[in-house]
Amino acid sequence: MKRIQDFKFKEYKWLNYQNYILTLKTTDTIAEIKPGNFAELKIPNAPDVFLRRPLSVLDVDHDENTISFYVKIIGKGTEKLGKLRGGDKVNVIYPLGNSFSINGTNKALLVGGGSGIAPFILLGRELKQKGVEITFLIGARTKEDVLLTNEFKKLGDVLVTTEDGTMGQTGLVTHHSVFSEEFQFDKIYTCGPDPMMKAIAEIAVEKGVDCEASLENMMACGFGACLCCVVETHGGNKCVCTEGPVFNTKDLAW
Ligand SMILES: Cc1cc2nc3c(=O)[nH]c(=O)nc-3n(C[C@H](O)[C@H](O)[C@H](O)COP(=O)(O)OP(=O)(O)OC[C@H]3O[C@@H](n4cnc5c(N)ncnc54)[C@H](O)[C@@H]3O)c2cc1C
Ligand code: FES
Repeated sequence: MKRIQDFKFKEYKWLNYQNYILTLKTTDTIAEIKPGNFAELKIPNAPDVFLRRPLSVLDVDHDENTISFYVKIIGKGTEKLGKLRGGDKVNVIYPLGNSFSINGTNKALLVGGGSGIAPFILLGRELKQKGVEITFLIGARTKEDVLLTNEFKKLGDVLVTTEDGTMGQTGLVTHHSVFSEEFQFDKIYTCGPDPMMKAIAEIAVEKGVDCEASLENMMACGFGACLCCVVETHGGNKCVCTEGPVFNTKDLAW
């Protein structure tokens, strides 16, 4: 059930110059959140940032009544969200969108790049609880941009590629040797830049495995009214905000 709820700024954990984890707290309970769900945050102290900004839910603590988001600064909204002070209120609409499907998977490969790693903590935790073996494959430009690996290591194996070769294998995630060796996975989950997800979707077809992608199309209203987030599928245009963000890649007409 969707909620519109006021949270208070609790803390930041800065991961590097451009990326931070924002934790918000409420005195109320927090609604159930499924892996892949996202939230629309109203940016406080920012009258020039009119629209809410969509962010995947990174983590939730129902005992502490906290919710966390992993944020990559790319513009005014994500920059201002990184400048909150004690007592600032953040209005959040959540949980939005659909979620990853978990059943029928024994060995999963989770491929993320950029802010696309955000939904993988909740997804990894749920997969692990269901007894699924998990491998994370994280792609970044350089080692400073390889983030959250300590969290991922608690849930499964972690493989890395960097474009400049400063960590893990050199190149793009799609060049990782995990794809050239005998492929051991029965499901791929991916989130990140569109070209990366499209390439991963092609590999999934080659390997004959199911693949789900969480799309990060630009959004405005977040509830299916403005149609600015549509993606073309084999079943017609669909709103990423209400019918996604998670799609089986075989349904997408990218
Ligand atoms: C379902 C969903 C989940 C998301 N989850 C996360 C997350 O967990 N962490 C995170 O850091 N980001 C996430 N994003 C992306 C995030 O919403 C955008 O980065 C943010 O809205 C940008 O706001 P801004 O005001 O900082 O930048 P703006 O000033 O709005 O934009 C700066 C530049 O980035 C471009 N841009 C804006 N939004 C996007 C986008 N979605 N995709 C590609 N280019 C864009 C603009 O065209 C512009 O050139 C998610 C997006 C969606 C749709
Ligand atoms: S953001 Fe308006 S319809 Fe999806």
